[in-house]
Amino acid sequence: MSTRPGGPSETTKSASVSGLRAVVLVGFMGAGKSSVGAALSRRLGWPFEDLDVRIQAREQRSIEQIFGQSGEAVFRQLEHAALRSLVGELGTSGKVVALGGGAFAQANNAALLEEAGLSTVFLDAPAEELFRRCQEQQLERPLRGDAKEFHRLYENRRPCYLRAGLRIETAGKDVEEVAGEAITRLGLR
Ligand code: S3P
Repeated sequence: MSTRPGGPSETTKSASVSGLRAVVLVGFMGAGKSSVGAALSRRLGWPFEDLDVRIQAREQRSIEQIFGQSGEAVFRQLEHAALRSLVGELGTSGKVVALGGGAFAQANNAALLEEAGLSTVFLDAPAEELFRRCQEQQLERPLRGDAKEFHRLYENRRPCYLRAGLRIETAGKDVEEVAGEAITRLGLR
């Protein structure tokens, strides 16, 4: 997905009018959760939060350090605790949230979001494209692995992502198009 500045002017509904307290973006590494989240935030006028940023701030360590020093199991505990606190803090004014790639594949996180009645949006793309985007981004991702491992993890997790309330195909679309589609399909316009 490519980005372009700005975007079409549009009139969107507030959280109180729409009845939505948050839009939660889920999907695999490279799905564009953070960039689409930022675009949605700007278009809706709702604050944006990336769950990985909250985890790093709480821990005062990078994701890479958490994985390296404490392992994935500890990371998942921290991730769940961070999501629980984020959901607990939600008011009625609306928020856009991007989860890390593994978060929605954890049953306790998916259950938490469902119990809270939050809208989940799966940003979908073929594994080849996701892997290519991750390679281009040069971001440190402890679970990326090589192409084969990446594909295997993607196949394992895909059924979990498909449980999200909405699935948006992102291949061949730019960030603004995806954000616009999310707004329309969530009934926020
Ligand atoms: C993870 C994805 C990462 C981050 C962590 C674990 C995963 O987030 O939460 O490295 O399990 O797929 P992104 O999807 O933003 O890369």
